[in-house]
Amino acid sequence: MFTYTELLEKINQKIANTQYGQNPAELYDPITYMMSLGGKRLRPVLTLMGCNLFKEDVNHALPAALAIEVFHNFTLVHDDIMDNAPLRRGQETVYKKWNMPIAILSGDMMMIKAIDFLAETPGNTFSVLLKAFNKAAAEVCEGQQIDMNFETSKDVTHEAYIEMISLKTAVLLGASLQIGAIIGEASEQDAQHLYDFGKNIGIAFQIQDDILDSFGQTAQVGKMIGGDIAANKKTLLLIELLASVHKDDKKELETLLQASADIKIPGVLNLYKKYQIQEFAEAQKEQYLTLAFQHLQAVSVQPERKILLEKTAKDLMERMS
Ligand code: IPE
Ligand code: IPE
Ligand code: MG
Ligand code: MG
Ligand code: MG
Repeated sequence: MFTYTELLEKINQKIANTQYGQNPAELYDPITYMMSLGGKRLRPVLTLMGCNLFKEDVNHALPAALAIEVFHNFTLVHDDIMDNAPLRRGQETVYKKWNMPIAILSGDMMMIKAIDFLAETPGNTFSVLLKAFNKAAAEVCEGQQIDMNFETSKDVTHEAYIEMISLKTAVLLGASLQIGAIIGEASEQDAQHLYDFGKNIGIAFQIQDDILDSFGQTAQVGKMIGGDIAANKKTLLLIELLASVHKDDKKELETLLQASADIKIPGVLNLYKKYQIQEFAEAQKEQYLTLAFQHLQAVSVQPERKILLEKTAKDLMERMS
């Protein structure tokens, strides 16, 4: 089996050797730019891990791993428009560096390229892979729309939030593992357990993303801190604050939510601290990690083959970027 570093190296090599097109430059340069900014490369590494659980050779999973990373990067290019975000991976977002029409169209092209890469998978699994890939991709769009709907909605429940992040974030982590497992010729049952493992890890991953958006450091996270608060995002943090705020602080919170970002961000952060909202969110992550491990346990390979996925999941809970 390969180590995390070895798998990351494989995917980075693959990305370094990939060309997306040249003409017109305004269409392709933003793709090269976005793909060269780095990022954790978590999803393609998960695809290779999903394959490596069942097969020593993971080369057949590399085109699909690339496809998933290109798709993920496409969602970020468009997400930054939706979220009005100036920074991504410590650099200017595509729509800021170029403009919005360019970010829309180069994003569209990334979606097309992603399918092209998926189709390069050797063997006869393409239709099965495409089905899993497109299901997750469609769900990401659903999650993104619900996320935006929630910005103007006052009474978003905890359950509705979990459903929204399952769609916008978690299903893609699930599908990354599932697709790797299918290429590794896993049984349908094992591929499903890996999907559910990834999905639960993905829920915890998005909760950590919400925590970092309020409590992280720009130098580490590479994004603007406080962006979720500024946009009235119904994150787990804000939903829990709204549910637990005492009468005397309720008025202040309501006023803050109407205020401009320079007042709202520090004000809401203060209330997060007062009501120990971060601690609540940390505990929620743990619950989803436990659920995830139940599915990993059910995968029918030797326990020692699962150690890397276990460690990866635990490390993600503590991530700072
Ligand atoms: C950011 O994903 C979008 C979310 C689903 C939270 P990552 O945190 O994996 O971003 P990169 O690829 O490492 O930059
Ligand atoms: C991202 O959610 C989900 C997708 C990109 C599909 P966020 O909007 O929280 O992601 P970041 O924080 O901008 O990376
Ligand atoms: Mg978003
Ligand atoms: Mg965003
Ligand atoms: Mg975020």
